Amino acid sequence: MSNSTVDDVIQARMSARAFTSEAPSRELIQHILQVASRAPSGTNTQPWKVYVLEGNILAELCDKVCDAYEAISNNPELADQYKEAYSYYPEKWFSPYIDRRRENGWSLYGLLGIEKGEKEKMFLQHQRNFRFFDAPVGLFFTIHRDLGTGSILDYGMFLQNIMVSAQSHGLASCPQAAWNKFSKIILPAIGATSEEMLVCGMALGYADQADKVNTFQTPRAKVDEFTSWLK
Ligand SMILES: Cc1cc2nc3c(=O)[nH]c(=O)nc-3n(C[C@H](O)[C@H](O)[C@H](O)COP(=O)(O)O)c2cc1C
Repeated sequence: MSNSTVDDVIQARMSARAFTSEAPSRELIQHILQVASRAPSGTNTQPWKVYVLEGNILAELCDKVCDAYEAISNNPELADQYKEAYSYYPEKWFSPYIDRRRENGWSLYGLLGIEKGEKEKMFLQHQRNFRFFDAPVGLFFTIHRDLGTGSILDYGMFLQNIMVSAQSHGLASCPQAAWNKFSKIILPAIGATSEEMLVCGMALGYADQADKVNTFQTPRAKVDEFTSWLK
């Protein structure tokens, strides 16, 4: 099988969960977004809208969401105040997806030395989402609420393009649905209108190669497990 550059970059991409403080330039971020916008979309609707956060705005929003997350952890009844605008995950999990989800979670925690029942450590690790894992750039993605489900499909292609282009420029990323619950805090803070819905967040920056969390490698099912060949 030939070794194309695109294949290599796609295979090298992984979700980074620790970043250095080195900030990518605005020109580079702009370039990546422009390239990513070559993603196809039904009738070329281009449903994406991007917010790039850095510096104080980023830090202040992270503080707010970290506080909200901590408040929920201290008083679970507060969780009802925060709702995702769309269901990213199923309400009721089932095999094989639940098994993969569990394997993913426990492998990551295992790597970090977090054992079952260590709730405080799990809380702190999950809370790192709300600091964009210390990435210098945090991205939020919104979509017009009234667009169809298909536009979310288009959005996924745009997001993957961002991550692949970023990878090709030596940057790392982590797509994050963890933020979605807190759209009530995020949308007004970034200046989004009431017509917009939060799709997800994404951490962007240079991976901290010294942090073991970035050695986490996720498995994939073999082609024959998800493909039927018909002739
Ligand atoms: C839309 C989307 C949302 C995700 N949300 C989170 C998140 O909130 N926090 C996190 O640590 N990882 C998140 N991930 C990363 C997945 O856990 C990761 O993609 C998966 O385990 C495969 O690993 P890899 O990206 O390193 O290949 C998300 C991935 C996607 C595509």
